[in-house]
Amino acid sequence: MAPDGGDPAAPVICVDGPGGSGKSTLAALLADSLQWRHLDSGALYRLVAAAALERGMSLEDREALAGLAARLDFRFEDADPAVSGEAPGPDIRSEPVGAAASTIAAYPELRSAILSRQRAARRPPGLVADGRDMGTVVFPDAPLKIYLDANPEVRAERRNKQLKNKGLNVSFRALLVGIHERDARDRERAAAPLKPAGDAVVIDSTAMNLDEVLGQALALVRERGLDR
Ligand code: C5P
Repeated sequence: MAPDGGDPAAPVICVDGPGGSGKSTLAALLADSLQWRHLDSGALYRLVAAAALERGMSLEDREALAGLAARLDFRFEDADPAVSGEAPGPDIRSEPVGAAASTIAAYPELRSAILSRQRAARRPPGLVADGRDMGTVVFPDAPLKIYLDANPEVRAERRNKQLKNKGLNVSFRALLVGIHERDARDRERAAAPLKPAGDAVVIDSTAMNLDEVLGQALALVRERGLDR
């Protein structure tokens, strides 16, 4: 057992990629099919951002934000991670929370405040973890790393559909601008920038449907013997 509570012997599949690439959906389906746990790491950054917005905190106060991240009691039991004892704040899937999450995710002190809690999710029979730095920083020894990409227009279209299904209406243009801004912030930051790990398998889902992406991912799972 590692000091952070995780089990380094448990296998991990990392699914990293930009927003709207479908990585959370793919990770949830893989976890379901293998009966492994699922860590949606982006939800943790979103929960910290929502809690900060709810408290009216400045998004520039790195130290206070890292302190907040260290104090929050994340719960992973439900399909969507949540925080115990928090008043319901803004919807963590909303665009303002996503933008705030991407701003505060650039702070190294905040990232290290939640690092051990991500590693603690690594427990038998296995973990499927999605985010930006699962393969590069959080689980560098994972036996399978997938980097899921898609062009920005397709990602904006997918996000648009997701939001519409939730009854939220945001213009396609605004979504596309937001995606470009967030991509730039996530890729250009010094701390854990978004990039494929050297040993990641890159899947470009621009012209693929979900079944095709899942099929490719499951083929990799079998190839690596992770389904036994
Ligand atoms: O994946 P999702 O869009 O929910 O992530 C929200 C934000 O959290 C991203 O824009 C990114 O800046 C940040 N994030 C991160 N590292 C992760 C997961 C998410 O920096 N592992």
